[in-house]
Amino acid sequence: MTLQVYTAVTGATWEAGLVAALDRSAHGITVVRRCVDVAELLAAAATGTGQAALLSAELRRLDGDAVTRLEAAGVAVVGLVEPGDARAADRLRGLGVVHVLPADTDPAAIADALRAAVAGGPSAGRDVADPRAALPAAAPRRPAEDAPPGRGRVVAVWGPGGAPGRTTVAVGLADEAARLGVETLLVDGDVYGGVVAQVLGLLDESPGLAGAVRLAGAGDLDAAALARLAWAVRPQLRVLTGLPRAGRWPELRPRAVARVLEEARRTTDLVVVDCSAPVEEDEELSFDTAAPRRNGVTLTVLEAADTVLCVGGADPVALQRTVRSLGELRDVLPEAEPVLVVNQLRRGPVPGDPRAEIAAALERFAGREVTRFLPADRRATDAALASGRTLAEATPGSPLRTALRSLASDLTGIRAPAARRRRPARRTG
Ligand SMILES: Nc1ncnc2c1ncn2[C@@H]1O[C@H](COP(=O)(O)OP(=O)(O)OP(=O)(O)O)[C@@H](O)[C@H]1O
Ligand SMILES: [Mg+2]
Repeated sequence: MTLQVYTAVTGATWEAGLVAALDRSAHGITVVRRCVDVAELLAAAATGTGQAALLSAELRRLDGDAVTRLEAAGVAVVGLVEPGDARAADRLRGLGVVHVLPADTDPAAIADALRAAVAGGPSAGRDVADPRAALPAAAPRRPAEDAPPGRGRVVAVWGPGGAPGRTTVAVGLADEAARLGVETLLVDGDVYGGVVAQVLGLLDESPGLAGAVRLAGAGDLDAAALARLAWAVRPQLRVLTGLPRAGRWPELRPRAVARVLEEARRTTDLVVVDCSAPVEEDEELSFDTAAPRRNGVTLTVLEAADTVLCVGGADPVALQRTVRSLGELRDVLPEAEPVLVVNQLRRGPVPGDPRAEIAAALERFAGREVTRFLPADRRATDAALASGRTLAEATPGSPLRTALRSLASDLTGIRAPAARRRRPARRTG
């Protein structure tokens, strides 16, 4: 059976020759439409007459969104670049094009790449609802990262709703890791209303993550651009602030967020992402295949993360929420192995020894061991919030700060220097 292909390589001098060569029956390819721009390509893809698109890096207005929409329409994408143009190839890969070839590749090899792209099925992008994913024999999904991982490690701070303290832990962890000498980037990835900027007292509005995502979507994000967009709180700690208004969530395209994380881990030792709670994917029941997915960002971050911290609260309601959330996470990302952190531990809401009772309950109902307990310490969190500073700055000796420092130490493998003992005051007289 021949493969029906759209081309969108206008402007290139080799376009006509290539189309003619590909169209020869021996390659098993039929060019069903030669599109002049992205708009025409997307319109053609929506008709369902083709299974793949061959496009060039120079195509005007080509961005990550267009690639996502092609894939959502069931059109696999192969990119062509001028021979030797590594930058263009990187840009196409950054937009989510997996198969990229130099334009002087033998037409038979291009035909093979088109077939391979179609056989690969839809990529693991989580930008838009894809009803095909709901089919029982869904096409295999590609792992989130095809690009070689950089040196940095991504820690997603996630957990159930009900404000168990995800942001407090994310900010505290990033700050403490930076204090241990680890170059850290804190990313506010909460699509339901990020507050990291307020917590850190960063009052100037900066484009932050939304700005980085915009550049990534256009294929223009590099280390220098990322550094410009991230606030330097201290030399070791930078922050990509979140959306100033939760209603702007559609701007955060999941695939572009994945690209931001990729760039971040190339240039930073540790990337800590404050995530929203919901992970359900029920938008997949949507009939509008191109509907953006709010939880796609959270899923993308959890998928890309080397470590997923699940922060839960320490009362019966919070425990039940944790158990439910862990179940939902298992459904959507069965391979994730979350590290369980119980925050706001205190006597009162759980009878008996709260630590032992909570550990036993989570073991029994979620099958997970609690890795760390963080104490309820309202005095410390209030002092930090009141001054827009971190716990280490506002209440360096507080129990919560001490616990967060050891959590950072565990995660980074760097031991915190022992606290200096205060000499007893010499008695006089
Ligand atoms: N260990 C703790 N002891 C006392 N208060 C805490 C502790 N951890 C967090 N808090 C407080 O609980 C509130 C909620 O915390 P935080 O904003 O970190 O939660 P969240 O899970 O990020 O919530 P949201 O769903 O709003 O994103 C804040 O006022 C915070 O200061
Ligand atoms: Mg939060």
